[in-house]
Amino acid sequence: MHFIVEGGVPLRGSVSAQGAKNSAVHLMAATLLTADPVILENVPVIQDVFSMITLLREVGAEVSFDTARHRIIITSRKELKPEVSNPVAANLRASLSLAGPLLARAKQARIIFPGGCNIGARPVNYHLKGFQALGAEARLEDGYILVQGKRLAGRRIYLDYPSVGATVNLVCAATLAKGETILENVAEEPEIADLCNMLRKMGAKIRGAGTKMIQVRGVRQLHGTSHRVIPDRIEGGTYLVAAAITRGEIILKDTVPAHLEPLLVKLQEAGAQLETNKNKVHLRVLHRPKPVDIKTMPYPGFPTDLQNQMLILLCLAEGISLISETVFENRLLITSELRKMGADIQLHGGGAVIHGVESLHPAQVTAPNLRGGASLVLAALAACGLCEVDGVEHLDRGYEDMEGKLARLGARIRRIE
Ligand code: UD1
Repeated sequence: MHFIVEGGVPLRGSVSAQGAKNSAVHLMAATLLTADPVILENVPVIQDVFSMITLLREVGAEVSFDTARHRIIITSRKELKPEVSNPVAANLRASLSLAGPLLARAKQARIIFPGGCNIGARPVNYHLKGFQALGAEARLEDGYILVQGKRLAGRRIYLDYPSVGATVNLVCAATLAKGETILENVAEEPEIADLCNMLRKMGAKIRGAGTKMIQVRGVRQLHGTSHRVIPDRIEGGTYLVAAAITRGEIILKDTVPAHLEPLLVKLQEAGAQLETNKNKVHLRVLHRPKPVDIKTMPYPGFPTDLQNQMLILLCLAEGISLISETVFENRLLITSELRKMGADIQLHGGGAVIHGVESLHPAQVTAPNLRGGASLVLAALAACGLCEVDGVEHLDRGYEDMEGKLARLGARIRRIE
C-alpha cells in the first residue's frame, strides 16, 4: 500500500486532532481492572486500537467498537485468561500494558515479548523491576514476559528512568495492591494523567498524576465508568508541522495547546506565527524556516515522537540545525530516504547535523516505522512533483484517515491499495 503525493501546495484550512493513540491503548488495557463495562469515547480508528481489541478479546474481554462514533465498550466480566500469545502482540509495544492490569486482577500474566516500532532495543527491565518491588515474580522466559503474584503490596519505588510504559503498568498494578505505593521519577506525559483520571473515576485512589511522584492507595475493587480520551498531541502536532513545511496556514482544533507547548516553542523559533486559545492552535508560516536545535526528552521535554517531523522542517531551514535524540537510539532511520530527496543530513552518534536546502525533490521512499512514515509524507508535501511513499500500513497504526485530513487541507494525496 502506498501514497502518491504531489507536493508544493501550501496547506490551508482547519483540522481536528483525533483521540490520543498513546492514551487509548493504555486506557483499553486498564479496563481489565474491573468486571464492569467501561465506555471510552473519542477513540481513534487506527490499527493499534484494532490490535488492542484483538488482544483484549484473547484474554476474555467483550469489546464493541462503534467506529462511526469513536466509542468502545469493554466488559471483562468473565474470569480472565492471562495469556497473550497472539502474533499481533509481538508488533504492538502497548501489549505490554496488559501485564499490570492482568497481574492485579488475574494474579498473573504471560505476554509474548512486545515489538512496536523498530526505533531501538526497547527492553522491559523497568517493568520487571517494578513488578518485583510490588512483590510479584517477574521474568523473561522463552520470548515471553511472565509475572505472577497473589498478594501485591504497596511500596516506595524509584524508576531509574521515567518510562511511560513502566509508569502505566505500575500505576495499574498498584490500584488493587494492599496499602500505599509511592512511585517516584515516573513519566509526566499527559497520557499518564489521562490514565490516572480514568482510574480515579473507576474508584482508584491516586494522587500526583502528571507529576514526578504518583501515590496510589490500593482499593479492593474498581468499578465501571465512561471516559473521553484526550486529544492526540503527536497526530495534531504532525499536521502543524505539515502546514509549517508547506508554508501554509491552518487551525488545529480539538487539541490541548498546553500539551503541544514543547513543539510550539520550536515552531515559533523556526519563524511560525502562532496563536492559541482554549482548544485551538492557529499557525501561519510565510517564510523559509529558521534553523533550530532540538533535544528529545521525556515530557515536558521535546517529544521523540515529533522529532522526525521537525527533522523535515529543518531539512528546509535557512542554515544549520542540530537534533539530539536521547530517548530511542534508532530514531533517525528516515535519513537515507530523505537523502534520496536531496536532504543534507549527517548523523553523529545519537543525533544529526542538518544543513538546510532550499527545496526537496520527488522520489520513491519507504516508511520505516510509524512516525518516520508520517514524516516522509510531510517531506513529500514539500517536494515539487510526484512522490511515492511506500509502507503506508505503518502510518495506519497511528493516524486515522491521514490522507483524508491532508486532502481537506488542500494536499494532493491518494492512497493506492
Ligand atoms: C511510549 C510511547 C511511544 C513514545 C515513548 C517515549 C506508547 C504506546 N508508546 O513508549 O510512542 O515514543 O513512550 O515517549 O505510549 N526503557 C528501558 N527499559 C524499560 C522501559 C523502557 O530501557 O523497561 C527505555 C526505552 O528503551 C527507551 C526509554 O526507556 O529508550 C523510553 O521508553 P518508554 O518511556 O518506556 O517508552 P514506551 O512506553 O515504550
